[in-house]
Parts: sequence; structure tokens; C-alpha cells
Amino acid sequence: MNAEELAAQLGAWKDDQTRLYRGLAEQLRLLIRLGSLPPGSELPPERRLAVALAVSRTTIAQAYSLLKDEGWLVSLQGSGTRVAHAQPAVAPPADYGAAASGFIADVVRDRVRTVDLTVPSPPPGPWLMAAMSRLPALAAAALSGRVYEPAGYPALRDRIAGKLTADGRVTAAEEVIVTNGATQALSLLAGVLTRRGDTVLVEELTCPTVLASLRTAGLRLVVVPIEREGADPQAVEAAVRRYEPSFIYVIPTYHNPTGWTMTEHRRAALASIARRYGVPLVEDLTLADTRIDGPLPPPPIAAYAPGAQIYTVGSLSKVCWPGLRTGWLIGPRRELQRIVHLRAMYDLGCPLPTQLLAVELLDDLPQIRLERQRELLGRRDTLLAALAEHLPQWRHESPHGGLSVWCATPRPLQQLNHVAQHHGMQLMLGSHFAVGARSYLDHVRLPFTLDEAELVEVVRRLAGYWTEAGRG
Ligand SMILES: Cc1ncc(COP(=O)(O)O)c(C=O)c1O
Repeated sequence: MNAEELAAQLGAWKDDQTRLYRGLAEQLRLLIRLGSLPPGSELPPERRLAVALAVSRTTIAQAYSLLKDEGWLVSLQGSGTRVAHAQPAVAPPADYGAAASGFIADVVRDRVRTVDLTVPSPPPGPWLMAAMSRLPALAAAALSGRVYEPAGYPALRDRIAGKLTADGRVTAAEEVIVTNGATQALSLLAGVLTRRGDTVLVEELTCPTVLASLRTAGLRLVVVPIEREGADPQAVEAAVRRYEPSFIYVIPTYHNPTGWTMTEHRRAALASIARRYGVPLVEDLTLADTRIDGPLPPPPIAAYAPGAQIYTVGSLSKVCWPGLRTGWLIGPRRELQRIVHLRAMYDLGCPLPTQLLAVELLDDLPQIRLERQRELLGRRDTLLAALAEHLPQWRHESPHGGLSVWCATPRPLQQLNHVAQHHGMQLMLGSHFAVGARSYLDHVRLPFTLDEAELVEVVRRLAGYWTEAGRG
């Protein structure tokens, strides 16, 4: 990788002005752990990288030196600085920040940006305050029960089971674990289904938060191509035979980042593979309640093979609000006990007041969905209209659900990213979602969760940066 390419991959690392080299070292560690800088690859000479990043050569030298001390890089006489073949065996706790995706690192650092297009975070609606206002009347009875419920507050498990049954996966309350967002559900599954070094099968584009969690768990990722109809069952079956993965992870409905929805036929075929090979399959339905238009999505994959080891993960984050941190995990009863044990070790359970609130929100879900649908429809169409007007060269589809538009651009976006960052706009390039050989640096995910006037302004500014980047 040359100095300019590496500079583009590094993203915004200069926030901590006091110890620049530490910020740079942290981002380099991240790229190594995410596989963007593979073992053995050569780093640019200090002088060139210093020019590309507009920092002093000392900053680069200090960052390289720190990473050599830690074992991430090696220097061999006459062959420059390279990524070490054996990564440090035990990552110190402080390193989790580096293993995380840019998004997680940013949440932890609480970066302030002018325009943040990295996270499609829907705003809470009036229904949230309405549900909260009903809590005092319910709290006395609810809070006098058990203090710890590692599998979740019983009434909430019941509501989630009802929701999943209505969605097509017949579910009993005993098959539900309430989690702190889908994120915790997926970390728990990685914890019980794998051991460090195991293989997991994922789509070649997938959710960066999940990717970070799988990589932090030390798992080897094998990819299947992404297709509009969903993962190709033949490719999945071939990969299952060849790599014997510990589990398969897919996002079948309003896939993040493409917005595509897996067909019924492919869901049935994947369910059949899970059953025939006895391989656990994890379906992430975090975005499933964000339908905007088009046909209703098919039932969960689990509906097609009731006896198979299929886990369905979901969340209130996208339809309601991510700040609730309320998600769930549905799985075969015989497996759940182990997961509940692991979960209890982490946090003993979700906070009861939030779970009470989630019960109320699930009772109101049909209405909330409708309101969200109306809002997302307006925002999506505003974004698409603004793109058509200001960036007609960009290609995209109109997603039937989800919170973002996946754009393909006529040239790679590193330079645009540079310019946008310079102006305080943070983008989520396709490379953040990419697992396989293809970098997707000519793709960007644009969320439509800002209000309509902001969206128009964002696209107008982006078009200006695109022109500026084209000149450079
Ligand atoms: C596909 C997918 N899974 C999981 C998550 C994490 O969801 P939660 O906020 O419930 O942890 C996201 C959030 O962006 C997502 O897009």
C-alpha cells in the first residue's frame, strides 16, 4: 500500500492533538487487525507517509517505533517496515479500542463532528415520551419482583415471543433472551458458538459493528458473495463443506449496507443447509421493522426449518431508538441455558426500567412502525431526489427498508473522503463493510435519518466535495 492509499484508509486519527503518534499508532493497529494491512505487507517509508498525512517525520517514526515495541511491525535491514507475520498473542485490554470499527472507536472517544454520516441513528418519536409517562403506574408492581433476570424480564420475553410468532417464527417466551441491543446478542453467540481461531461464514458486505465483534473474538472470516436475492445457497453450501464454519451469519432483511432482502426461496435453502449440516445459522433482523414500501419481507429464516439450530437476533434500535439498547436473541431452548450463563457473567441482565419501557413500546409497535415508515419514506425520497439532482453520476437503488442508501460511484472515494473530513463531514465508505478481496472503496452508505432540509444540504455539500476531489 502506498503512502496516499494508507493515508486515505487511516481516516480521522488526528483528534488527539497532544499525542499525535499514539492516535496514528492506534489507527494502524486497527487496520492490521481488520486485515486492511495484511501480515507481511510493507508500510510506506516514514518520509512519504509524513508528507501524505501532513505531519512531521518524527510522528511517523514514533508511531512505527511504538508498534514495533508491541510486536505489530517489524523492520528488517534493507526491506523497510512490514506488518509482523505473527500478531501479538494477547491484546492488552486498552487495545479493544483499536480492534473496534471506526464507529465503535468514535463512540468511545465521543468525537464531535459537524456532519456525521457514519451512523444511521433514527430520532426518537413522541411515542417514546408517551410510553415513558406510563411507567410510574406500572413500576411499583414490576420493580417489587426479582432484581436479576439474566434471560430478561418475563413480560418482555413474552412480548418478544409474541412479536416473533407474528413475524413467522413460532416462539415461546422461554426461547427468548433480552439483550443490550443486537450487539450483545451477537457477541454472546460468538462467545458460545466459537473458540478463538474458528471460522465464521459471513456475507462479503456486512455490519461493521458485528465485524469488529467477530474479529475481536479472534475468528477467521470466510465470505460468500453478496447478491440482491440474498446469499447464494450453493456458495454457502460449498463454503460449509470446505471450511466447516462454527456458524453462518447473514442479514436477510434490509441488509446493511445494501438494503437488499433475501428471497423466500433462498431463506428456505439456507435453513435446509443449517439443518442438513447441523451448522448453526445466525440471522440478524435488526432492520426488519423498518419497512418503507414494497412487499412485506418473508418470514425469518428460522421459520423454514423449525428443528434446526437457527438463532434470530433483533432489536428496537432501528425502529424505535438505539439509545434504548434493547435487543433480543431467539434460539433453540437446549442451547439457551449456556448463553444465559455467559450473559449473567457479563452484566446479570438488562436494566429493569428499560425493559418495562420496551414492553410498552412493543405493545405500541404497530403504530410506531407506521409513523417510522411515513418519516423514512419522506427522508429516503428527499435523499434520492437530492442525489439525482446534485450527483447524477452516482448509482443507487431505492431501498424498500432500512435507514440508508448504498451508492456506487464512478471513481474510488478516498480523495472525496479526505476533502469531506477536511470540511468536518464523516462518511462511511464501502470499505468499512467489506470483508473479502474487493475493497468497495467506490461505494458509500448514506443514511437518511437526518431531517429533510439537512439531507438536501448534505448532498449539496457532498457534490461540492466530489468536484473538489476530482480536481485533486
Ligand atoms: C445489521 C445490524 N446488526 C446489529 C446492529 C447493532 O444493533 P443494536 O443497536 O441493537 O446493538 C446494527 C446497527 O447498526 C445493524 O445494522
